[in-house]
Amino acid sequence: MIKVNPIQEIRAEFEVPGDKSMSHRAAIFAGLSDGVCRIDNYLPSEDCLCTLHAMAQLGASHEVLESMESYGPTSLLITGKSMRLQAPAGDIDCGNSGTGMRLLAGLLAAQPFESVLTGDASLCSRPMGRIIKPLTEMGAMIEARGSEPGCAPLYINGADLSPVVYEMPVASAQVKSAILLAGLFAEGETKVIQPADTRDHTERMLEYFGIQANRKGNEISVRGGQIPRATDFRVPGDISSAAFWIVAAAAMPGANLLIRNVGLNPTRTALLDVLVRMGADIRCDVHSSQQGEPYGDVKVIGCQLKGTVIKSEEVPNLIDEVPILAVAGALAEGQTVIRNAKELRVKESDRISTVVQNLRAMGGDIEEYEDGMEITGGTPLMGAQLDSFGDHRIAMAFAVAGLFAKGQTQVSNTACIDTSYPGFSIQLDAITKGGSLV
Ligand code: S3P
Repeated sequence: MIKVNPIQEIRAEFEVPGDKSMSHRAAIFAGLSDGVCRIDNYLPSEDCLCTLHAMAQLGASHEVLESMESYGPTSLLITGKSMRLQAPAGDIDCGNSGTGMRLLAGLLAAQPFESVLTGDASLCSRPMGRIIKPLTEMGAMIEARGSEPGCAPLYINGADLSPVVYEMPVASAQVKSAILLAGLFAEGETKVIQPADTRDHTERMLEYFGIQANRKGNEISVRGGQIPRATDFRVPGDISSAAFWIVAAAAMPGANLLIRNVGLNPTRTALLDVLVRMGADIRCDVHSSQQGEPYGDVKVIGCQLKGTVIKSEEVPNLIDEVPILAVAGALAEGQTVIRNAKELRVKESDRISTVVQNLRAMGGDIEEYEDGMEITGGTPLMGAQLDSFGDHRIAMAFAVAGLFAKGQTQVSNTACIDTSYPGFSIQLDAITKGGSLV
């Protein structure tokens, strides 16, 4: 359980842990590469540790150089298998991670052995049909044996894959990445067409590891048979983790926050654009692109925010930030409208329903729609007893909401925070005490 009391001031300067999306991909690409790769600032969250462990089960072992106490490795050497993975001894547990499961399914679809991908109850209730369909078209046999149709555990019978041209019905970086990873093993050119821009870490990492991939608008293609060249990678901080503090500071008049060395990939920063539209004072100092991924410092000066309408094309690039954006909406004057975001219903929790329940419990004025929500800000938030619903981003978003509420807020069931943000409570504590963190 996390207990939060209201604060009047934020003055802090710190870094957030490594990016989750990039850490998963770094473990996978390093494990497929033709040599030893040093990965620094790896995110030692449960999700990313599952992927690291999965790659080890597939033969790509690692040596730990540095660790975050009580969590896991932050710097490691991963020995690549030159695309020749070995059959795992048992089931592969992806924990709570949709990214881990969907990306690994792309790899395993192409292997000459059988494998099983499983996970926790939340992950085993999320839709896997979206990757089973294209991977089956490529020639793999995947059976979803969960209690719900189309859900994990996934029994994968890998095959020699044929390339596909696949038009994705949902804008999903996970689906895109699963197909591109499978395409690396297929003979010929695999092409993915996305309905809207989604995070492009896989494309950037393909290029960084020396794989030729072509990008033309929303079409990405890769030719099979290329082996990732071993290289080192330093993971920038996770903008989706920084988002909790960025919103907290942006909405608190007089606050002053500096987050250093955070990833600023344009397919991840829509939240910053939206906050600026809401009146926030946010400045980014982008350093020279680090290994294919832009990163830098974000400075936030707090003020009174005003509501805004989220454009549909912005949604995929702030999908993980919607819970904290809804909190920003509640703290802003006027209305904030988030629609065309039905994907939120199939995340770690049904994030439309869980945000609405928690914001209402705090006295917030919020309307629920099938594809989103409309928040009327300005109603003072009241401290409340809330549940995370086992969803890390709900837990953290409402811990931050508690900083602005009258009275104490208690969020229960917060162990899930470790799936993406080890050390969140320590940073929350330090911010609450007005300390300057480094
Ligand atoms: C991710 C893609 C997004 C995002 C998830 C991480 C990734 O999911 O919500 O947290 O690393 O590719 P979808 O691809 O399902 O939109």
